[in-house]
Amino acid sequence: MTKKTKNIIILGLIMILTATIFTGCGQKNMDNVKAEENQGTLEKIKASGKIILGTSADYPPYEFHMEVNGKDKIVGFDIAIAEEIAKDLGVELEIKDMEFGGLLADLKTNKVDFVLAGMTPDAERMLEVDFSTIYYNAEHTLIINKKDIDKYAGVNDFKGKLIGVQRGAIQEDIAKEQIETPQIKALGKVTNLMLELKTGKVDAVLVEEPVGAAYVRKNDELYMTNIVFKDEDGGSAVAVNKGNEELLEAINKTIERLINENKIDQFVIEANDMMDNE
Ligand code: ARG
Repeated sequence: MTKKTKNIIILGLIMILTATIFTGCGQKNMDNVKAEENQGTLEKIKASGKIILGTSADYPPYEFHMEVNGKDKIVGFDIAIAEEIAKDLGVELEIKDMEFGGLLADLKTNKVDFVLAGMTPDAERMLEVDFSTIYYNAEHTLIINKKDIDKYAGVNDFKGKLIGVQRGAIQEDIAKEQIETPQIKALGKVTNLMLELKTGKVDAVLVEEPVGAAYVRKNDELYMTNIVFKDEDGGSAVAVNKGNEELLEAINKTIERLINENKIDQFVIEANDMMDNE
């Protein structure tokens, strides 16, 4: 081998080595960036031993307040699902109750780790957060005061009426799109909307059908119409922060298991029973 060939070989080796070191570093940096982004996520949750759920507990049978042995508790089928997610992750569940309209802001600032609140994964929200597979489907309907039954035969009779909706919920859009020239009153809590309905301050409240049914069973003055509203985005899903793939994957796994075991239907029945026997 001539000296020249030797030099070329050595130079080549050096180049390969340098390239390897640089790509190696690059890879490592990428991994670090990813790990940092995932703070507040699966790793952090597991390390802290708890996962924080954001919900709006005014929505029976999804989530609601109930007195258990003299103590206020938040229960419902969303809560049962959240418990299963926590169990599968091997951590405790902590619940933060707030107004529905504030949930995604708290999720995005990591004040909560995930949201279950009968939340519909609509296009606008999908730009802000990521959603699990849909775990439950429901239609929407109007609840009215029993004394008004004769006034309303169909959706056309609600033209120009004052419709109560939850602030930040998709029911506001549904009302605007599917009722003619409605007036809208948006309140933070569904519980208060139902009070307004009882006292004649709104003409009707638009909610998911199982929720309307639950309130009607508890309140003799209320009545559920048989009007059904279409909802293309339909269904409830769990929300997590964008880029939180590992957590989302774990949540989807739990949901898949619960669906396969017919557990979700069971949780819905149990939540309704709890509500009725309170
Ligand atoms: N499904 C509707 C939405 O996503 C209403 C959900 C209200 N949930 C609640 N817990 N209050 O906008």
